[in-house]
Amino acid sequence: MSHFNCKKIRVINDEVEDMDIIKDLVKSEELEDAFYIADIGGVIKKHQEWISKMPKVVPHYAIRCNSNATVIKVLATLNACFDCESKEEIAQVRKHNVQGERIIFANPNKLPSHIKYAKEQGVAQMTVDNEIELMKIKELFPEAKIVIRVRCDTDNSPASRSLRVKFGCESYKEAVDLIQHVQSLGLYLYGFTFSASTSAINNYVKGIEICKYLIEVAKLFGCSNVKLIDIGGGFSGREDLNEVAGLINGAIEDLDPNVRVISEPGKYYVESNFTLASYLYSKRLVFSDDNQMRIMYYTNCGVYNSFLDEALGVVTPVRDPNWISFSELIEDKRFLSCIWGPTTDSVDLIRKNVLLPELSIGDWLIWPNMGAYTLVLSNTFNGFPIPTVKPFIRESQWKSFLEQIRQT
Ligand SMILES: Cc1ncc(COP(=O)(O)O)c(C=O)c1O
Repeated sequence: MSHFNCKKIRVINDEVEDMDIIKDLVKSEELEDAFYIADIGGVIKKHQEWISKMPKVVPHYAIRCNSNATVIKVLATLNACFDCESKEEIAQVRKHNVQGERIIFANPNKLPSHIKYAKEQGVAQMTVDNEIELMKIKELFPEAKIVIRVRCDTDNSPASRSLRVKFGCESYKEAVDLIQHVQSLGLYLYGFTFSASTSAINNYVKGIEICKYLIEVAKLFGCSNVKLIDIGGGFSGREDLNEVAGLINGAIEDLDPNVRVISEPGKYYVESNFTLASYLYSKRLVFSDDNQMRIMYYTNCGVYNSFLDEALGVVTPVRDPNWISFSELIEDKRFLSCIWGPTTDSVDLIRKNVLLPELSIGDWLIWPNMGAYTLVLSNTFNGFPIPTVKPFIRESQWKSFLEQIRQT
């Protein structure tokens, strides 16, 4: 029987809404610093949903997206697998007793010391997209399980977002050359992977077809023991899995049963399960040349503390703030507003010209869907702290989680 010891998770009555959890925390703990609430029951639900909708695709949570220790610990307890992309990420996951076989080292270019560490930790599955990396692995970890990364995404993503420039070999000639190199170096060709990298879900089908083809090519070169197709990450945390699951399940239906399929979802697990609360501590009225009035709000979580991905244009800001107000608020009257982060940097602007009711000093801004690529990209520039995380779970989910791990 497994047991789970995590005093940090608050168990909350099923009926209590997220907003009420935040209100209660703000009041009872007299908070001022920005913080997150993390719905751990929601993370568990995502894991279960994946298993039920794509039972033949083993998800490896990509901790690059959010390396919160409670999230890793809960998923590790559920026997989940992980995608790690550096020595430090491997260490973060290994701390929770995840065996090396449950980890894929999915960074095609690796520092020599990270390869040595992967070897020490028994993390043998690793992605590669070029000959030089193969030579390094031959020298440092010749028993590694090589997973060749190919490009498959179409060019419909903005250049700044496309990973095709940075990673992946061309899926025919270059991939075939690499297969031959793996073979000639006496390394173990274990599988193929791709990164769909855009939200165009047909790319998963395209990628799987490329991998199937390459498995056949590999056989021709004597690599008869290819065991893996890794379909990467890119799954939305806010949308339903049904459509993409249907496509992927269809594409792997006829696959040789000796070939395992895995994935590397990041944001899928956490995006919708983290809600940020930031404190509104200053405001002023500004009139532009055309006499247009704007309210400038200042809050203690800005670009540097959680909104860097938006500022870099990596994601489009879809997270509209909600608010908790402790003063009289005229709900139906809206004013043109800008929301600034706390630093003295002029780029620290998180919302420009949005319509909000008039908020007061001491109110809180509430930002849903903030679980992915927020905390991991934060820093303490200008002395403003990274928000803390307050994990919670609803009572019924807690009971069924404990029951589930009791049976394992
Ligand atoms: C190799 C690899 N694995 C997994 C992911 C996770 O992506 P996401 O959070 O979009 O699922 C990424 C993201 O770019 C990636 O490059």
